[in-house]
Amino acid sequence: MKRIVLFIASFVLLFGSSVKADEGMWLPIFVERLNYTDMQKMGLQLTAEEIYSINNSSLKDAIVGLSTSGEPGGYFCTGGIVSDKGLLFTNHHCGYDIIQKHSSIEHDYLADGFWAMSLEEELPNERLTATFFLRMEDVTDSIIPFLSDTMSASQRSAKIREISNRLKKNADPDKKYYVNVTSFFGGNEYYIFVYEVFRDVRLVGAPPSSIGKYGGDTDNWMWPRHTGDFSIFRVYTAPDGTPADYAKENVPLVPKHHLPVSIAGVEKGDFAMIWGYPGNTDRYMSSYGVDFQVNYFGPNIVRLLGEQLVIWKEDMSADREVGIKYASKYASNANGWKYYLGEQRGLKRLNVKQQKEELESRFMQWVAEDAERQEKYGGVLEGLKSGYEQISSKFGPFILGVLGANSPEILGFAQSFGTLAGYLENKDKTGAIEETAAELREVAREHFKNYNTPTDQKVFARMMEIYAGEMPADMQPQGFKDMVAKYKGDFKFMAKDVFAKSFLSSEAKVNAFLNKPSHKVISKDPAIILSNELMGSMIVLAGSYRAANAEISKNNRLFIAGLREMMPDKAFYPDANSTMRLTYGSVQDYKGADAVYYDYKTRLSGVMEKEDPTNEEFIVPERLKELYAKKNYGRYGAGNKLIVNFLTTNDITGGNSGSPVINGRGELIGLAFDGNWEAMSGNIAYEPALQRTICVDSRYMLFIIDKYAGAQNLINEMTITPRRIKVPKEKILQIQKAAAATN
Ligand code: ARG
Repeated sequence: MKRIVLFIASFVLLFGSSVKADEGMWLPIFVERLNYTDMQKMGLQLTAEEIYSINNSSLKDAIVGLSTSGEPGGYFCTGGIVSDKGLLFTNHHCGYDIIQKHSSIEHDYLADGFWAMSLEEELPNERLTATFFLRMEDVTDSIIPFLSDTMSASQRSAKIREISNRLKKNADPDKKYYVNVTSFFGGNEYYIFVYEVFRDVRLVGAPPSSIGKYGGDTDNWMWPRHTGDFSIFRVYTAPDGTPADYAKENVPLVPKHHLPVSIAGVEKGDFAMIWGYPGNTDRYMSSYGVDFQVNYFGPNIVRLLGEQLVIWKEDMSADREVGIKYASKYASNANGWKYYLGEQRGLKRLNVKQQKEELESRFMQWVAEDAERQEKYGGVLEGLKSGYEQISSKFGPFILGVLGANSPEILGFAQSFGTLAGYLENKDKTGAIEETAAELREVAREHFKNYNTPTDQKVFARMMEIYAGEMPADMQPQGFKDMVAKYKGDFKFMAKDVFAKSFLSSEAKVNAFLNKPSHKVISKDPAIILSNELMGSMIVLAGSYRAANAEISKNNRLFIAGLREMMPDKAFYPDANSTMRLTYGSVQDYKGADAVYYDYKTRLSGVMEKEDPTNEEFIVPERLKELYAKKNYGRYGAGNKLIVNFLTTNDITGGNSGSPVINGRGELIGLAFDGNWEAMSGNIAYEPALQRTICVDSRYMLFIIDKYAGAQNLINEMTITPRRIKVPKEKILQIQKAAAATN
């Protein structure tokens, strides 16, 4: 699953054992202590040292976090190293934005795929980085004793920042690495992480979208699936092996470890582990949080994103050039839209709120048993309740405001001009105006590359109409109301006029302005005025949440601490937070609903069954049809079948997309790429009977690379292993029994 990043320009949405195997995203350093025996029982054949070691190469050295923010932490996806020349597998949907950027009508790599047949043909990517995790250490005792519950939220975070900065300096005196101090369990524990970040990562291969995105948004988040969701990159280093910016003389990375690729196939019950960088979960969320998610957050986001998507799609379908320009942002928002839709549905159907309430009443009983506990935890649930109540009451307008001010891309873009406007107003003489103008030229180039003015004008008209109609009148800024009055409520006319008069509606106009930046022009630009009005009122509203957010996060921290005290024998795993995790489980089918049974694997024949030449999401490429007709699967076939996707019980979330799925011998059997519709509430509660990870089979990837694309160069550099490991029958029975007992 890809990390959900909605295409919203400038304003970040707020909020941003007796363990059952399968559930849990574990920190690799604790695996030996918490999970190793369990994993062995399930079919793991590696030593703990081969799993995680700081001194010797181990599995962790073949896992990378992919980022475009230039820093680790914001990984959008995971990759796995599959050759001794730094070759890296991730999902097609992870590479999608990059493939899109290299695409044009002349080189339509989105539609046709891309294969580098030699190193020279590999395509460099600005800002894309691959991060390797080197080591981590518990620093809780250097931080927690210096904090207290009487500190305000801002005092607390200032203290944490101060200590973290010192720890970071000590951990990396030569500034060779990237060091992060990250909080766990809602701020009850802290760990320091040392990473090495490689900055030259090149595109090597991608199947056409008709394979890599087969089934499109219709099949997204659903099983059965038939998608070849993989793309290939390569990490490069300076000639001496150190990280470097892109340079012609850079050489392929020699990794500490690479994953052999298995073509032995998977069977029900086989052990499977998944390594990667899950972004965010809220497994310890209270019933009040669930209520907020179901009734306020989800419905508002889904509704407003849906409006934008409909308009985008219409223009994308009418014109391939617009189709290419909007492909990646459309895919992102459509993915988020469907995710939140599924999450709401899942939370309701699976009675997650009720599950949480049951836990909370046990918690309150436990608290009531002891005076000290009452003192410490007595107010926790009340605090959570009140925090969420404060946010909920205004959340609808808030999200309406944020999306209203950002869905029309012109308004988000307008926010980039605030700094320049400030310099112009103050008649700056230090050269800052010229400097900022030069930067803005770059920003504009990026913005217009994937932008279509008429499309955005339509979005603008629709969003302003919704905003005017649904935002409570007393929360609409006066400037906006005046504008609506001026156009007599004709939003199409308003859009037409704003786009005609604003210099932000074309790159030529922006550049003409930047050649002669003037305060008069910028302060009169209708898009800039409107954007400032709308964003201004949202910033005020967001400010009013600050206290409520602090209350939630404080009580959430105490709630988690209390739960851990209450269940001292349970192995707790921390929520996902973009640090490296390992999850283990097995290949499994499931019952989706009454009378609905789902097999755990899909075949190429299923791709053909879904074929629909009239629907762009289900077009099967000619070449694939030929290969299917000939059943020419070579060593990648299972008999005369070719397995495309399979399911496991692993516990993953956004950020895990592209994560290697690894068998008991440490070999790659597939890549994780999605979750299933029946368990979309998974970020908040893991559902053992329903929750599955959807994986693309390594044999399908190799088949596409080898037989479809003819990229023997890539096949030759991988370590392909045909061995099959059988998990003994009695082992499987044992596991099933154990699972049944814990259910
Ligand atoms: N649901 C997948 C994830 O979050 C993304 C799939 C992308 N495909 C699509 N049709 N939008 O990782």
